[in-house]
Amino acid sequence: MADVRLLAEEPDQRHVLRRAWPHLRRHRAAMGAAVTVNLLATLALTLVPVVIGRAVDELLDNDRTGLLTSAAVVFGLVIARTLLLRWSELLLVRAGEKVVHDLRDLVVERLGGTPLRFLEAHRGGDLLQRATVEIAELAAFVRGQLPDLISLAGYVVFSTIVLLTSSWQLFTLLLVVFAPPMWLLTRIVRRAAERSYPAEAAARATLTSTFSESLQAREQLQIDGATGTWLSRLGGDAGHYYRKARSAQGAATWIDGTWIVQGIASAALLIAGGIMAANGMISVGVVVTFMLASRDLFSSVDDLTLVVGDLLETRVGLARLLDLLDATAAPAAVSAANVSGTNVGAANVSGTNVSAANVSRTNVGPTNVSGTNVSGTNVSEANGLAAEGVTYSYRAGEHVLHGISVHFGPGEHAGIVGETGSGKTTLAKLLCGLYLPDSGTVRLGGADLSALDAADLRKRLVLIPQQVHMIAGSLADNLALTPGRKTRADFANAADALGLTAWIDSLPDGFDTDLGRRGERFSAGERQLVGLVRAAMTDPEVLILDEATADLDPGTAHRIEEALARLRAGRTVLVIAHRPATIDRLPRVIRLHAGRITTEEPPCP
Ligand SMILES: Nc1ncnc2c1ncn2[C@@H]1O[C@H](COP(=O)(O)OP(=O)(O)OP(=O)(O)O)[C@@H](O)[C@H]1O
Ligand SMILES: [Mg+2]
Repeated sequence: MADVRLLAEEPDQRHVLRRAWPHLRRHRAAMGAAVTVNLLATLALTLVPVVIGRAVDELLDNDRTGLLTSAAVVFGLVIARTLLLRWSELLLVRAGEKVVHDLRDLVVERLGGTPLRFLEAHRGGDLLQRATVEIAELAAFVRGQLPDLISLAGYVVFSTIVLLTSSWQLFTLLLVVFAPPMWLLTRIVRRAAERSYPAEAAARATLTSTFSESLQAREQLQIDGATGTWLSRLGGDAGHYYRKARSAQGAATWIDGTWIVQGIASAALLIAGGIMAANGMISVGVVVTFMLASRDLFSSVDDLTLVVGDLLETRVGLARLLDLLDATAAPAAVSAANVSGTNVGAANVSGTNVSAANVSRTNVGPTNVSGTNVSGTNVSEANGLAAEGVTYSYRAGEHVLHGISVHFGPGEHAGIVGETGSGKTTLAKLLCGLYLPDSGTVRLGGADLSALDAADLRKRLVLIPQQVHMIAGSLADNLALTPGRKTRADFANAADALGLTAWIDSLPDGFDTDLGRRGERFSAGERQLVGLVRAAMTDPEVLILDEATADLDPGTAHRIEEALARLRAGRTVLVIAHRPATIDRLPRVIRLHAGRITTEEPPCP
């Protein structure tokens, strides 16, 4: 089986931030500025209890000027904190949104360029969940909790310094009564979260997949009367998600234990502080500073535990997103050395000289059609499309194609036939470079398809699949799905060149005809006509039509044949033929049986 890195349901959570760093690096200056301003805001707030403590001592000493000054300083600190915090939030949200925006773009780009078999190997709902929901959660965290997280972490550090410098004795007491139970509780929460949050995210992705599949298959489910079975499967997934979500909530319950720890610590500090002040070891102001700062510290730690809970949840989403990015990362560029073929000229191999290998579609006629040798050894492999010893399997050890060798010359018109499941569609996808062979090679103009630029490949080789997928919208929206920007004039010219103008004109709104949410308005054959018009605009060297197996009405069948005949000139055209009428017209027919070429035969006379 060709190598596809599969996504993990519960990917590794370790070093997520370090792994995400390459995606953040570009924004480090903006993030750094935001964090600095945020910490300044926090510092301002941390100094408030210190000044209040000093004001208490000044009050007890009857120092009115000092008291007023302290009051003014408190006011100034609060204003500074408010302004700095707002500023830092703006900076942080702006920088964070840029990071999330870049990640979203990257995911779209990676999914757009990922091999077809990667997409086929995963449930659509799982990819959807990672590419949309989990990025949205990341964005929500950046907007909502990230500023809090930085403030709180800064606050814990600054108030610890304030407490330590106010009274080391009370600080030691605080360390003894507060730190160990808090450390223990945090560990418990973290362990429980690490166990339950990834499982909850995986269960949610499964539920999304099942739900989106049921929507896609709704018509078939109703036809088959299988709605009940599907609903019970959906119910099973929903129940599984509910149990996982409940266990994740259970993890959060431990957080309440912090209240008890705080109560005990506050009582101990008040008693010890009172005794020390009564004995003149510290001033009343220091006790006030200590009590205020420690209350703030407790509530910061409390809030921090909640935000850390959110952080752990976001970390799961981030890990799943990074897993998707890793799995869809472009493979190392195929070096020129990897492009084998000793009889291939350098100009044909170099990706930048692809045009040199291009067949002039106006100059090459069907006279170039290759010989009948299936192995293709007696024709010039440097021209046309050639498969050499191609093997392919969808599942490890189950070959669908077994060492296929075949050559199609420039301008050749040929057919591939065979019973259902014999591997015709699979071969077509390999010949187009949509799948990479497990072993063997496919060459176009002598160059290995895997060495060619993907975008260039899509212009040189076009496959019209058995079931042409339509997007919601008009015929024009669907025709626009070709490389490059195409105008109405391009649509009209292509339709005209294929003899389809009358068909377009017969539609209620011509190119603006609404085809429905999934193109329901068109039959399988009419969808292939759309594919043919797109192909005419792309003007590829090789066109492969995987004939729709559904019965075509005579009118549509005629239009397809006519369009194909017009498209033939000057390019290689392969038809995966199902209908006897098509097979009869083919000048060369290759027959597949259980993934092997059995015969190459002329059509029935
Ligand atoms: N995406 C896939 N994942 C797993 N197995 C697949 C996949 N696509 C095809 N197969 C299997 O590979 C084999 C060849 O399928 P393929 O679609 O190439 O046959 P085909 O000759 O085009 O059939 P048909 O005439 O029905 O279109 C079949 O056994 C099929 O079940
Ligand atoms: Mg098929």
